[in-house]
Amino acid sequence: MTVQKKVPFVTFLTRVRDESVQGPNPYRWEERTSDDYFAGKRVILFSLPGAFTPTCSTYQLPNFEELYDEFEKQGIDAIYCVSVNDAFVMNAWGKSLALQKVELIPDGSGEFTRKMGMLVAKDNLGFGMRSWRYAALINNGVVEQWFEEEGFSDNCETDPYGVSSPQNVLEKLKAAA
Ligand code: BEZ
Repeated sequence: MTVQKKVPFVTFLTRVRDESVQGPNPYRWEERTSDDYFAGKRVILFSLPGAFTPTCSTYQLPNFEELYDEFEKQGIDAIYCVSVNDAFVMNAWGKSLALQKVELIPDGSGEFTRKMGMLVAKDNLGFGMRSWRYAALINNGVVEQWFEEEGFSDNCETDPYGVSSPQNVLEKLKAAA
């Protein structure tokens, strides 16, 4: 779907490795804003219900990582995965998958997801508020293409996955080139 909507301005709280930090856990907080991620870049953003969940960990995130170079050939500068999880969880997830290319964005409070209109209840799974699954092509902070899974709803019994898959997003990018 073609759209022209600006992404919300949000400050994300990330944890970055810093060898100058003493002790066994050399990380510090670093604030990164929407502008840091989106200004002056043509990127793919995708969002999912949670770190470490099966479809996200087995297919969606690893497949975006595998296809990263193909996206680059289509003029994509970065691929971001955002989830309503805190920075500790997102870092641990990235480490567990040995991610090198896709960047993880922790939206722990759900502010970005809420302002994107994508926050849903997942209390049926004991998750609380999480993101509906979607992907987007975002150019200089403006959403240009939108890939949202069908059936946006609270406490959805199913977990639709197809439209926001890397294979589908890449195919649509190639078709539009
Ligand atoms: C999955 O990615 O498979 C998943 C996501 C949310 C809830 C349950 C499973």
